[in-house]
Amino acid sequence: MTNGESAGGHPPDLMNKLTSLSKRRGFIFQSSEIYGGVGSVYDYGPLGVELKNNIRAAWWQEMVHRRPDVEGVDAGILMNPRVWEASGHVEGFTDPLVECRNCHRRFRAEDLDGVQCPSCGMSGTFTEPRQFNLMFHTFMGPVQDEASTVYLRPETAQGIYVNFRNIQETARQKVPFGIAQIGKAFRNEITPGNFIFRMREFEQMEMQYFVEPSADAEWFETWKQRRMEWVRGLGVTPERLRFHEHGPDELAHYAKTAFDIQYLFPFGWQEIEGIHNRTDFDLSRHQEYSGKKLEYFDPASGDRFIPFVIETSAGLDRTLLVVLADAYTEEEIEGEQRVLLRLHPRLAPIKAAVFPLVKKDGMPDVAKRVADELREEVTVFYDEAGSIGRRYRRQDEAGTPYCITIDGQTLEDETVTVRDRDSLQQERVAIDRLPGHLQALLEAAA
Ligand code: GAP
Repeated sequence: MTNGESAGGHPPDLMNKLTSLSKRRGFIFQSSEIYGGVGSVYDYGPLGVELKNNIRAAWWQEMVHRRPDVEGVDAGILMNPRVWEASGHVEGFTDPLVECRNCHRRFRAEDLDGVQCPSCGMSGTFTEPRQFNLMFHTFMGPVQDEASTVYLRPETAQGIYVNFRNIQETARQKVPFGIAQIGKAFRNEITPGNFIFRMREFEQMEMQYFVEPSADAEWFETWKQRRMEWVRGLGVTPERLRFHEHGPDELAHYAKTAFDIQYLFPFGWQEIEGIHNRTDFDLSRHQEYSGKKLEYFDPASGDRFIPFVIETSAGLDRTLLVVLADAYTEEEIEGEQRVLLRLHPRLAPIKAAVFPLVKKDGMPDVAKRVADELREEVTVFYDEAGSIGRRYRRQDEAGTPYCITIDGQTLEDETVTVRDRDSLQQERVAIDRLPGHLQALLEAAA
């Protein structure tokens, strides 16, 4: 399916529209754009970074702050290279690639449609498939040789496993308990694309839950359901969400069972998050490679065992893409087209925009005072440029749930209009009641 066609009832050509809206409104830019960009790395602009922070905060609140049995960690991106031998990534984190002998471009064999090179057009020039490791590497210290090679982590999970004992002992947690982390991961993807769907530098939100081996299936089911509920709670259309169970040929080298939460993107059903039963694979391997005991002593039974791990692994950027794609709406209002992002108010980068109806009669001064007062409570954008209609449209595209306008009546009775992004309904509210009114609206939407 091309970007022009659209699965899931999305507007036609959605990916291109999202890419241009993201640039136009300051959500997402191509990295190093003035130099022509760099492959599949993106920068978040003023609205993008707010949206990303709001998703990150929602995840952290759900997975750490609301749970006495989950602790947070923020581990280094660079780790001892033995970590990646133990984890199986040096050996197993590979894609089989073929190379065109004519233009030397590499492709995943499974992506090819025949014997013709998609880059140079020559036929029959492909080599036999060879394994290509997806980990980026660099050198630590002044000497650049094999002994100084370190990797940029391809998943955040290993920073959790190597800290298992530190955290269990210092936080005095008992199994079952979890450790959560949000952070950057890097993969030298061969076929990146679809905007921020597959990137080479991205962020993961991962939680590893350590359980008794006999309780793995039960906890797997619990986390599978909890994670789907969380995604739905972001306001994502339920009909565009489903589970996909990994068959034996899809399972990662560490997984016994794996389910993806998939979203129906315009380009089809694709993974946004994985829930994996990683058994005792990782802790056992780190115990073996480090020579340090990673067993858990159960004070109740007196047993020692290596816990099994139920992992929930979501992409922050990919979740953000889901939120954007799902919120993007085109509609006709009184013969005019409008584009809006129906973002959940909790996630919206700007909660309220404040406008003077016109730039005279003291309205800007009142509007600036209102904006400054609200800024103590929520994110606010002040705008006096252009017609009021254009200002509303700009905020619709930014996903701002409430627009507050200071007009002639304000100067008489200290009331303003509050316009709802989705229903377009306007109500008059007294300025001194505005902070409480907005809080109530935002809480009602949460
Ligand atoms: N620790 C397990 C793990 O990393 P994964 O299925 O490879 O599992 C988990 O990745 C999630 O990370 C994916 O569901 C996706 O949301 C995100 N992700 C993986 N590769 C990505 C990429 N190249 N670009 C953006 N997000 C990616």
